[in-house]
Amino acid sequence: MNPVARLTAGWLIGAAALAAAAGSALAEPPAGDRARAERAAAAVASELAQACPLADTASEAALTTCRSALYGDSQLRRHLSKITLWGRQVSPDRSLKETNLTQFAPDVLTGMYIPLFMFNGDYKVQWHEAEGLYQVRLRTAFRNRLAPGQFPYPFWHEAQKWEMYEHANELILWWDTKKAAVAAAQFTVHGANPPVRPVARAKARVFDGGWTWTDDRGRTQPAVTAFSGLLRDDNPFMTQVDAAYRTFALRLREGQCMDCHVPNNPDHSKRLVLLQTPVHAAAEIKRVLKSVLDDRMPRDEAGIEQPLDKRAKAALLAEGAAFDRVLDLARQWEADREALVAAAAPARSKSGAVGASLFRSGFAAR
Ligand code: HEC
Repeated sequence: MNPVARLTAGWLIGAAALAAAAGSALAEPPAGDRARAERAAAAVASELAQACPLADTASEAALTTCRSALYGDSQLRRHLSKITLWGRQVSPDRSLKETNLTQFAPDVLTGMYIPLFMFNGDYKVQWHEAEGLYQVRLRTAFRNRLAPGQFPYPFWHEAQKWEMYEHANELILWWDTKKAAVAAAQFTVHGANPPVRPVARAKARVFDGGWTWTDDRGRTQPAVTAFSGLLRDDNPFMTQVDAAYRTFALRLREGQCMDCHVPNNPDHSKRLVLLQTPVHAAAEIKRVLKSVLDDRMPRDEAGIEQPLDKRAKAALLAEGAAFDRVLDLARQWEADREALVAAAAPARSKSGAVGASLFRSGFAAR
């Protein structure tokens, strides 16, 4: 083939791919579906503005209020999928399929990730033809000056990732009308407006290679990943949860799980699963037990299943089950406590929706 012909052929293939993408543009579903998305968006936006309002970017108190509200029986939690994809929007032109995203259970997103952002209630809902999903776009700003133990892991392990978090100006919830739930969530710097409050760049931190560490009082860090702020401080199972995770984590390490299931994504998974902290692993424990039981995990570098030997498998399953059991006890204690508090307190009035408003006209359509 001469160079010109090759060029033409290449161009044709490119054009065909584009046409295929354009051809798959999906028409907006019936009005009822949009109404449902709008209702969910309004409820979530109003809740976020109320529980996670604009605050100092270093305020741990503001973070804690936001976390405990969202982690509870929140509108956000009710509208997330059982596994919701999470990550940054590198470019508005890159499809979700082409984007590396992490698989998160609602506990992880509501308890650790979404609370890192603050909201003023401005949002808009728009149909995204290429994805066939609605976007709920919420204006936001990132709490960049929190203590290191308040982030789920050192986001600064990658300068570009940290920079995008710091400059985030919108949170995008991808609403799937078929599931009537949020299928994916992304933060972006590509929104039309600046962050909802100025975020001065924080002094760059240095990543020392550890996803977790122990502070000088012997506590697992990041604190948010050890259930601090999610379980009550007086939960008698708190220390057992931590100890059970530490033992289980040794088995995960022996099983090579941490070669792949860590934030820097050594295996380049498009749909990463994280297991490197108590909260991350707790949210995935049932899937972990099942995948090991069925010999689907671990894998080798080629992605081929490489079952553990009998002894290692039994040990991982036993320690995993022990972690699962103590988590159940901790959760049960929380539920009992909740019931006690509710029974003791006179009915509190539910506070009304505040602050939610459709994006003002300044917010350009995308
Ligand atoms: C060589 C890399 C690698 C190793 C080692 C590995 N995994 Fe995985 N794991 C993957 C990939 C890849 C996926 C699929 C995610 C995706 O779709 O990209 C996955 C998926 C999973 C899932 C989700 C499965 C589901 O049900 O959907 C769990 C849970 C999991 N791994 C646990 C483990 C455990 C436990 C170990 C250690 C015993 C382990 N993995 C070792 C690469 C690995």
